[in-house]
Amino acid sequence: MSKPPFDMDNEEFKRYGMEVFDRLVTFFSHPESYRVVPLARPGELKEHLPSSPPRKPESMDRILKDIDEMIVPRLTHWNHPGFMAYFAISSSKPAILAELLSAGYNVNGMLWKTSPAATELEEVVLDWLRQALGLPDVFIGAIHDTASTSSLIALVAAREFLNQGIRERGLAGRTDLPPLIVYTSEQAHSSIERAAIIAGIGQSQVRKIPTDALFRIDPGALEVAIQNDIRDGFQPCCVVATVGTTSFTSVDPVKKISEICKRYGVWLHVDAAYGGIASIVPEMRWVLDGCFEAHSIVVNPHKWFFVPIDCSVLYCRRIDILKQAFSLVPEYLRTKEQDVTNFMDYGVALGRRFRALKLWMVFRYFGVEGIIERLRYHLALAQTFRSWVEREPDFELVAPTTFSVVCFRFCPPELLEKGNGEVTLNLLNMSLLEKVNESGKVFLSHTKAGNNVVLRLAIGNLQTTEDHVREAWNLVKDIAREIAAQKVV
Ligand SMILES: Cc1ncc(COP(=O)(O)O)c(C=O)c1O
Repeated sequence: MSKPPFDMDNEEFKRYGMEVFDRLVTFFSHPESYRVVPLARPGELKEHLPSSPPRKPESMDRILKDIDEMIVPRLTHWNHPGFMAYFAISSSKPAILAELLSAGYNVNGMLWKTSPAATELEEVVLDWLRQALGLPDVFIGAIHDTASTSSLIALVAAREFLNQGIRERGLAGRTDLPPLIVYTSEQAHSSIERAAIIAGIGQSQVRKIPTDALFRIDPGALEVAIQNDIRDGFQPCCVVATVGTTSFTSVDPVKKISEICKRYGVWLHVDAAYGGIASIVPEMRWVLDGCFEAHSIVVNPHKWFFVPIDCSVLYCRRIDILKQAFSLVPEYLRTKEQDVTNFMDYGVALGRRFRALKLWMVFRYFGVEGIIERLRYHLALAQTFRSWVEREPDFELVAPTTFSVVCFRFCPPELLEKGNGEVTLNLLNMSLLEKVNESGKVFLSHTKAGNNVVLRLAIGNLQTTEDHVREAWNLVKDIAREIAAQKVV
């Protein structure tokens, strides 16, 4: 039998590998020559793509040309120094190399047996991360794709913690089991509500506890909600506190929340997807105050630890409960090794990418001190931007700048004083945001504080410098004045 052509030959692989690298080096050398946000209109790329797959092989030259001409210009560049929307993130070069190796060896660490090195490296590197964060060694970690998945897993563990046979018998038709309740703040990420939906707890069983003027959960209101639910025959299942909320980066009073959880025997999960990483910086250690008593805590290295998306870590102090909730071993996955970790036992996915490698490469290439230095720079840049906003009478700050996000709005006093001022200001700020982003130089995002539109400038990219932040500020100021002068709202 003649051998079919199996894969790209090695010479071609090397040649095009170098060509791909050249493209990335060009991007990293001149990111400013790329637009952060593309000018693409919806459906535009699809118009350029054939609707059916190619029947015949195509050359890599043509494929790469299409990447250059059709794909890259329509990407939103998350690795751009002007990307300051949502939570700004970075895929650092050592971590990019790790991704390449991981794909090249096509590692799948579902069991220890299916990749001993992937499993043991994950155990070791997550213990390094735990130490760097200052968490006690009762916490054992596992890597998942996103914080949304990590929080879903935590919620399922909390459900299992109730010991009501839910794993076996489910929730449907359970007359012996009161409705389960999840408590979180009105500022919590939507992934918590979604996790409650997926876990069968139900959207209306999520109590969104009010927050104070600084967007932190009100622990008194939390306790009253738990008491009311118990009185009304509901079953508190999980409290989710947030360290670094999505909109305003507020930090819930976890210590007080943890005391409440203890009083009522409720699982405490902490969503520290963004803010938790800051705890690596000694003067930011306080952000995890109270979290040592939590049952589970999620941090996202793909948010502020310089690894490419995706990489989320769920630390859990009740690894036994996690295993009880998730472990299911069909015959073909049984192995003879004892006392090894099979990561498939601790989450939803069976197949698992070798994400630990990129975390390990970041730790080794930058060192903990190097990471602290970079985080400190981002924290300082945010304070610098904040000080500029503070000095400008036509702008106002909307929240404390605890991490690397500044929340502010354009708020000229003369407009506010007019009737309907807030509505006008909202239109003005949305128009400002749109025009700033249209520039292609920076990308900001927005949120709302009550009914008021708030702009967010987030720093987190390794290439972002004070010059980029100043450019963003100048753009914001210039465009704001232009809009206000023309009353183009
Ligand atoms: C506080 C918080 N938790 C969870 C998430 C969800 O993260 P992921 O995209 O990893 O699911 C986000 C997203 O920004 C977030 O801000």
